[in-house]
Amino acid sequence: MKILGIETSCDETAAAVVESTGEQGLRLLSNVVASQIDVHAQYGGVVPEVAARSHVEVINPVVNQALSDADVTWDDIDAIAVTYAPGLIGSLLIGTLAARTLALVKNKPLYPIHHVEAHVYANFITVGGDSLVFPARQPEFPLLALIVSGGHTQLVLFRGHGDYELIGKTGDDAVGEAFDKVAKIIGLPYPGGPSIAKAAELGDPNRYKLPKSRLDNPYDFSFSGLKTAVLRAVQREAGVDITFPSYELAARLSDQQRYDFAASFQKTAIETLIDVTERAFRDYSPKSVVIAGGVAANQLLRQELSSRLPTAIEYAPMALCTDNAAMIAALGYYQAQQIEPTDPRNLEVAPSLSMTKTAWAV
Ligand code: KG4
Ligand code: ZN
Repeated sequence: MKILGIETSCDETAAAVVESTGEQGLRLLSNVVASQIDVHAQYGGVVPEVAARSHVEVINPVVNQALSDADVTWDDIDAIAVTYAPGLIGSLLIGTLAARTLALVKNKPLYPIHHVEAHVYANFITVGGDSLVFPARQPEFPLLALIVSGGHTQLVLFRGHGDYELIGKTGDDAVGEAFDKVAKIIGLPYPGGPSIAKAAELGDPNRYKLPKSRLDNPYDFSFSGLKTAVLRAVQREAGVDITFPSYELAARLSDQQRYDFAASFQKTAIETLIDVTERAFRDYSPKSVVIAGGVAANQLLRQELSSRLPTAIEYAPMALCTDNAAMIAALGYYQAQQIEPTDPRNLEVAPSLSMTKTAWAV
């Protein structure tokens, strides 16, 4: 079975084809991602209207490219999977409208996919071209997933496909959002995750002592206190008080201070993620642990998690951690095994739907 995935929930226009191989898991046949990072970088973050307009411009060529890279025609495609939630409304509308139209015109079953849940399914793709290193095998249930992206930070226990429980989440900022905001404070380019990781290589992670927050629910996260602690420390180093305009702060830091802030922040944010994940691992005894979402591309997170948890962890290729459509197609495959497709004429977007069991029941 071959599934075409389509993803436009934020600032990447993506399409991919994934095929089931039976025993071996899922095979990646193509993975096209048209990034808008350059367009948004000049504003220091994603501008929703600009994102939607860019999706309109490239959605058709991106879908065609995914088919041709996979060396398939429409006749070979068995189903279409598309992100319908959550995300920017204008962006979601473009992808779902394209998928609904294609499902009708090409007469293909359509599966609506929850973007955050789909991030976990990057870990179910085990075969593909030569350029990516895939996990040797698929994860097993019960599966503990640490989902860390620009909009989400949560721990989810999967008992099976479509059967999961949210056991912890952030009460304020997502960890990716904290990377992005701290990068802005210390004067590193957007997106903040990769630029902080790079700057941190030159920095001293112990130079600045930053706080780790403790919450009532032992599996919950909080990152806004950490972000504020970085802001206050930067103000102290710059010799200014809290009334000083924050957009002028970065210019007062030396390069070495910038690297040290990046390294100290990254270390604290990652320790926070690992402390909570380790606690959940002890209490729930899952068979597999995966990390998912853009922050899962972070090397320090991978190294530290592997050394702290008493189990072997397999990691998805970096390219499938940040937003892509392969993960959408992968989850689409498992939905196609278990539920009826949705009527393309009735599919609506759900921009703020969090990860609940209703995500499958459209
Ligand atoms: O999953 P994703 O591509 O988009 C969302 O659904 O949010 O995640 C994007 C987030 C951004 O906040 C970005 O700064 C972060 O992932 N990110 C990273 C790294 N690469 C991307 N954070 C830390 N280290 C990285 N290497
Ligand atoms: Zn994402």
